[in-house]
Amino acid sequence: MPNTPDDLARLLAGADHAICLTGAGMSTESGIPDFRGKDGVWQKVNPMEVANMQTFLTDPRRFWEFHRPRIDMLSGVEPNPAHVAIAEMQRRGVLKTLVTQNIDRLHSKAGASDVVEVHGSLSRGQCLQCRTMITLEELVVKADSADDGVPRCNDCDFPLKSGVVMFGENLPVAEITAAYDAAERADAILVVGSSLQVAPVSELPAVVQGRGGKLAILTEGDTPYDATADVRLRGKAGVQLTETVTALDALLN
Ligand code: APR
Repeated sequence: MPNTPDDLARLLAGADHAICLTGAGMSTESGIPDFRGKDGVWQKVNPMEVANMQTFLTDPRRFWEFHRPRIDMLSGVEPNPAHVAIAEMQRRGVLKTLVTQNIDRLHSKAGASDVVEVHGSLSRGQCLQCRTMITLEELVVKADSADDGVPRCNDCDFPLKSGVVMFGENLPVAEITAAYDAAERADAILVVGSSLQVAPVSELPAVVQGRGGKLAILTEGDTPYDATADVRLRGKAGVQLTETVTALDALLN
C-alpha cells in the first residue's frame, strides 16, 4: 500500500537537513515526455544511437536530427505544480539542495534555489575542441542555417552541441561534487520522478541511507530502492507534492 502525502510531510518535517533529487518525471506534467516511463523517449528511440558522444563525434548530423526538435519542445514549456511545490518546500526551509537530472531549467523558473544540474542544461553550448562558449540562441541559428543541420564552431569549425550531458560524456565535476557533498550532509532525501537507473546520481540515495538517513520516493514507476524506502508514494507528482505542502503547513504551524 503506497504511503500518503501526510507520511511524506512527517518525514520531511522530522528531518534536520533534507535534500531533493529529481528526474524527468517532474516535467511530464509540463508536457515533456520522460525517458523510461510508459510513453518515454527511450521506448521510441535508442539513446545509444542519438544521445551519446560516439554518435555526436561520428555522425553529428544524426545527433542533431534528434536534438534540434527537442530544443524547440523544451523551450516552450512552463513549470507545473510539482516544480512549484518543491520551491515552496525550499522556501519553508524543509528542503535544502535540489539536485536535478533535468536540463529543462523548470525548477529555476518555478523559483527553486540551490539547484544543482548534474546532467547539464540547455542554457548554453560549448565547442569541445577549443572550449568556445555559445548561447543556445546562437546554437539554434547556426543549426538552422547549416545545410546538414550541424552547427559548427566559428573558430575551429568543430561540430557544436548544447550543454546537455550525453551518455559517454564526462559529467560536470563541480555539480557532481556538489550533489555528493549535499548527500553527505543530509539526513533525508526525497526522490521525485526518477527511475534511479543512471549512475552516479542513482547512488545518492544510498549515500544518505548509508549515513542512517531516510529515503522518500515519489515516482509512478518502480525504482531499485523501493524495498528500502522509508516512504514510497506513487501517482502524479503535481498532486502528491501539492498535498504534501498542505500537510507540512498543518504540521509546521
Ligand atoms: N509523477 C510521478 N512520477 C512520474 C511522472 C509524474 N507525473 N511522470 C513520470 N514519472 C515517473 C516514471 O514512471 C519514471 O519512473 O518518473 C520516472 C522517470 O524516469 P526516467 O524516465 O528514467 O527519467 P530519469 O530517472 O530522470 O532519467 C535519468 O537518464 O536518459 C538519461 O540523462 C537522462 O537525466 C536522464 C537520466
